[in-house]
Amino acid sequence: MTSTLNPAGEHPAEIPEYPMARAAGCPFDPPPALHAMQEEGPLAKVRLWDGSTPWIVTRYAEQRALLADPRISVDVTRPGYPSPTPIRGSSPISFILMDDPEHARLRRMVTAPFAIKRVEALRPAVQKITDDLIDTMLAGPKPVDLVEAFALPVPSLVICALLGVPYADHDFFQENSKTIIKRSATPEQRSAALGRLAGYLNDLLDEKLVNPGDDMLSQLTERIKTGELSREGAAQMGVLLLIAGHETTANMIALGTLALLENPGQLALLRDADDPKLVSSAVEELLRYLHITHNGRRRVALEDIEIDGQVIRAGDGLIVANDIGNRDPGAFPDPDRLDIQRDARHHVAFGFGVHQCLGQPLARMELQVVYSTLYRRIPTLRLAGDLDQIPFKHDGSVYGVYELPVTW
Ligand code: HEM
Repeated sequence: MTSTLNPAGEHPAEIPEYPMARAAGCPFDPPPALHAMQEEGPLAKVRLWDGSTPWIVTRYAEQRALLADPRISVDVTRPGYPSPTPIRGSSPISFILMDDPEHARLRRMVTAPFAIKRVEALRPAVQKITDDLIDTMLAGPKPVDLVEAFALPVPSLVICALLGVPYADHDFFQENSKTIIKRSATPEQRSAALGRLAGYLNDLLDEKLVNPGDDMLSQLTERIKTGELSREGAAQMGVLLLIAGHETTANMIALGTLALLENPGQLALLRDADDPKLVSSAVEELLRYLHITHNGRRRVALEDIEIDGQVIRAGDGLIVANDIGNRDPGAFPDPDRLDIQRDARHHVAFGFGVHQCLGQPLARMELQVVYSTLYRRIPTLRLAGDLDQIPFKHDGSVYGVYELPVTW
C-alpha cells in the first residue's frame, strides 16, 4: 500500500482517529481500540479532527510520569497542542489552562476552601441538601429524571453556596456550561456561552465589591482590590469553579447510579453498608471505573522527553488517556470489573501532577453523602425503561447521561 508520509515520517491514514467509539452495549467501558493500544505499549499515535497526530499515552505508570513532568505544558496557544475542538485563540478558562508559575499563583488563591477540614465542615449541609431533594422526589410523580431532580441540583446548590452565586440562576449557568463542554458546539457557540458566563460572574463581582458576603467570590474581590488579580482574571476563575464544581460531580452521581443499578450485587453491598470506609472505597472505585473526563488530559511537550525507548519531541502533542489508565491491569488487577471493595484510591480520575483536581475533597465528600443516602432511602430505585434507550454523553468532554428516568 502506498501513502504519503507526513513531516514526522508517518502514514497519517494508518493512524487511528481519536476520540474512538465505545463498544455498543458497553457504556461504562473505554473504547476497545484503546484497550488494544494499551496492550501494544504505553505510547502510540492518534489522528485528531484537524489531521494532527499527537501521542496517546495509555498506560498508568507512563501517564503519571508524564503528568508530573515539568517539561509538558497545558498552554492551548502553543503550536502542537492537541486541541479537542477548533477553539484556539479564545481566552483560556483560568488556571486549568495555564502553566506554572502563573498557574500556581492563581490556584493558591482558591485552595483553602477545598482543604479537607473545610470540606468536612460542609458535610451536614450537603446531607441536608441531599435529604431534602430526596423528600421532594418521593413526594412527587414518578418516573422522574434523576439528572434534573437530583444529580444536577446537589453539586449546583453546593458550589453556588461556596462561590456566592444565586442558585435561582441555575438554568442560565447550567445551559451555558453544557454548551462549553459539548464537543459538537461550534467555536462561536462555545465562545458566546463563555462570554455570557464571564459577564454574569463580572456582574456578581460588581455586587460583591460593594456588598461582600462570606463566600469565595467576595474573597476574590479582596484580591482585585490589592491588585493581585485582574477583574477579568477573577471572572474567569469564577467561570472555572462554577463549571468544574457542578458538571463533573453531577455526571458521577447519575452515571454512578446507573452503573450500580446494572451491578445489583455491588449496589446491595453499598446500600447495606454502615461502614464509612466501604462508602469511601465505593466512591474511589466508581471514579476509577467510570472515569468521566474521558477525552484525555491534553498537553504539549516543551522539550524532548524520552520515555519507554521513544522520544517525544519538543512541540509534540500529548493525550494522556486517563480513562484507559484507570483500566490498566498493571495498576488495577481485573480492571474491567466494578468492585467497590477494592482499594482504588490511586486512580487517575482526578488527573495527576500540578493540575490534579482542586475540588477533589469536595467531590469525594458529595459523592460519599449521595451514594450512602440515595439507595438507602429509596431501596427499590430502578431504571424506568431500557438501558439502550438512555442518551449517553458521547459528544461531551465530560461523559455521563443526559437523562436517567428512574422509578421505585
Ligand atoms: C467527580 C468530580 C470531578 C472530577 C472527576 C474532576 C476531574 C478533574 C480532572 C481530571 C482535572 C485535571 C485536569 C487536567 O489535568 O487537565 C480537574 C481539575 C480541576 N478541577 Fe475537578 N473534577 C471533579 C470535581 C471538581 C469540583 C467539585 C471542583 C470544584 C470547584 C473542581 C475543580 C477543579 C479545578 C479548579 C481544576 C483545575 C486544577 C488546576 O488546573 O490546577 N473539580 N478535575
